[in-house]
Amino acid sequence: MSPSAHPIYARIAGTGSYLPQQVVTNDDLVKRGVETSDEWIASRTGIRQRHIAAAGELTSDLALQASLRALDAAGVSAEEIDLIVVGTTTPDLIFPSTATILQHKLGVAGCPAFDVNAACSGFIYALTVADKFIRSGAAKTALVVGAETLTRMLDWNDRNTCVLFGDGAGAVVLKADGETGILSTHMHADGSKKDLLWNPVGVSVGFEVGEPNAGVRVKMAGNDVFKYAVKALDAVVDEALVANGLDKADLDWLVPHQANLRIIEATAKRLEMPMDRVIVTVDRHGNTSSGSVPLALDEAVRSGKIQRGQRVLLEAFGGGFAWGSALLRY
Ligand code: UT7
Repeated sequence: MSPSAHPIYARIAGTGSYLPQQVVTNDDLVKRGVETSDEWIASRTGIRQRHIAAAGELTSDLALQASLRALDAAGVSAEEIDLIVVGTTTPDLIFPSTATILQHKLGVAGCPAFDVNAACSGFIYALTVADKFIRSGAAKTALVVGAETLTRMLDWNDRNTCVLFGDGAGAVVLKADGETGILSTHMHADGSKKDLLWNPVGVSVGFEVGEPNAGVRVKMAGNDVFKYAVKALDAVVDEALVANGLDKADLDWLVPHQANLRIIEATAKRLEMPMDRVIVTVDRHGNTSSGSVPLALDEAVRSGKIQRGQRVLLEAFGGGFAWGSALLRY
């Protein structure tokens, strides 16, 4: 809350998203030699297909398309942006940040631009950071993006992980608003769970860790992640309601991270929300990590589901572990 008598809110002025053209169905994965089936993937995760970035199509390219659509929807020009925050765990380069690359692709320079790496919670974390900048008066018009090319770090021989993820990006333009906007944000992390969901290579530890030529690959203890995620998300949605003095029935929409339909259904049950009030894209997008929440939000706004004035709860959980929520009046 701003210390001034008149609080400043960060309000979503426009949303945008982008999915790469190539669609890969569960059956396509079977045809490519993955030891799985459409029946197993659909019944355990809800996923039917995912989009995969083309060769040479970078995280910043996905971010750019989503950003242009969000700017257009907000009626804001790139020159008006005074803060860019990109949530990503698959940056184009180790440095500079994908946010600065995006800034240049948008044809602007000067405003601060940086990445936030909170794995699948990257967008929630990035949104939280931008919200703080706007509430404090340090920024007036922020571009917040979740963008990933996660399929580039999958082991296509590991059926436990390779069937789960997809590529994509979503973006929002936040504007300072005297009336309403983001009502609360909450972030959490538990670094003791690092090796349940991770990519165990990097500059400091080296890129040849474990088996020779293991490469840069996601590893996950899926069932352990599942159980922790359900509990953490139950707690974080309760926390958001309590912080705002709201009841479950006061929420109009849930926009959850899209990792697994069964996790989404568990959170909806906790909130006593019918599934027609829950935005689901996991069937078509798979898990796009930081991209998933803003992709789902944009789809819900553009389809006319989420209307101005409604209360929307966003949440995410992922590697770290890192998780969080944002409750807003759209
Ligand atoms: O976004 C970040 C957060 N990520 C998540 O929230 C993901 C959380 N985890 C999950 O979504 C689920 O745990 C999975 C979908 C990853 C796995 O579902 P599960 O019901 O937890 O299955 P499981 O790991 O207990 O595996 C059950 C069986 C195993 O076989 P056995 O040992 O019982 O014979 C696996 O080998 O399913 C087998 N299996 C597969 N079979 C066919 C694992 N992956 C596949 C596959 N196709 N793709």
